[in-house]
Amino acid sequence: MKNIYSNIFSFNKKILKKSVANLKKGNVIGLPTETVYGLGGNAYSKVAIQKIYSLKNRPKKNPLIVHYLNYRDADKDVIFNRDFYKLYKKFCPGPITFVLKKKSRSKIQSLVTAKLNTVAIRFPSHKTTRSVLKNLNFPLAMPSANLSSGISPVNALDVAEEFKKKIKIIINSGNSKIGIESTVVSLIGKPKILRPGIIEAKTIKKFLKISNNKISSKIISPGMLKKHYSPGIPVLLNKKKAAKNCALVTFGGNYKDKINNFNLSKKSDLKEAASNLYKTFRKIKKQGFKKIYVVKIPNLGAGIAINDRLKRAAN
Ligand code: TXA
Ligand code: MG
Repeated sequence: MKNIYSNIFSFNKKILKKSVANLKKGNVIGLPTETVYGLGGNAYSKVAIQKIYSLKNRPKKNPLIVHYLNYRDADKDVIFNRDFYKLYKKFCPGPITFVLKKKSRSKIQSLVTAKLNTVAIRFPSHKTTRSVLKNLNFPLAMPSANLSSGISPVNALDVAEEFKKKIKIIINSGNSKIGIESTVVSLIGKPKILRPGIIEAKTIKKFLKISNNKISSKIISPGMLKKHYSPGIPVLLNKKKAAKNCALVTFGGNYKDKINNFNLSKKSDLKEAASNLYKTFRKIKKQGFKKIYVVKIPNLGAGIAINDRLKRAAN
């Protein structure tokens, strides 16, 4: 990756120290996670949280995920339940976020949770972010490091292109392996998937009953806002070919290599396709195509999360 940004750094002891110092001061920094890159700040600091919302231009009613090293650190902020322990044991640290009741004495800023009495928590597995968390005595509120309603960044350069020099540190750790955001599951009352991800509903169902109810029109997870994940140019779904000056995003082995064809996975691997999705959209936008046509993506496995993002991108 060519680095023309002086605020992108490789991870080492010096950058760890500098990152920790910045976070303690209430600054926000760009951090890698296994899903996508995040914009991290002290979840207990009003100044830091205000910076996150204003940098992203994020509506104040859209709450943030709070990131911890382990459940012991989260204990002072949230009320655990049996369903939580079951999923934590199985999937954490990893790409899953739990919505739980917030403890009344928690120091989490009310802006983080959009004044709700619930809080979304996650335990990332990425070792860079884990070493940063190890050196803090507060958790990190960390949305994806992109402007609101756009697509999430999957590497340090993506983050720099979103915020330019407005943040002082972006830690570079190559491409995020998973490439789409964590699965969000509400564990309040009957468990419910609020945002599909690489950990599928089918897998979670092996450990607990989850509600199949279609989520009501009321916004309970604002990631479900209809317009979201937009690459900045129109996206058209279930197409077989693209119009002139437009790109075709394909999947599987049946497509020719053409300059406007972008294959998410030649070997029809849906996880690989998920990890290539945002990367491909950014590349297409940069190359100046006017619209993105997307072929039908199988709606199973990681395809469910891909189609969720595509539907909103096309909205
Ligand atoms: O993979 C990820 O989760 C990434 C990385 C950086 O950790 N983060 C991420 O954050 O995707 P963000 O802010 O882009 O998405 C957070 C999602 C939103 O859909 C938000 O509405 C939902 O989590 N959320 C946060 N708090 C919630 C709450 N109390 N109740 C319901 N949904 C909540
Ligand atoms: Mg986001």
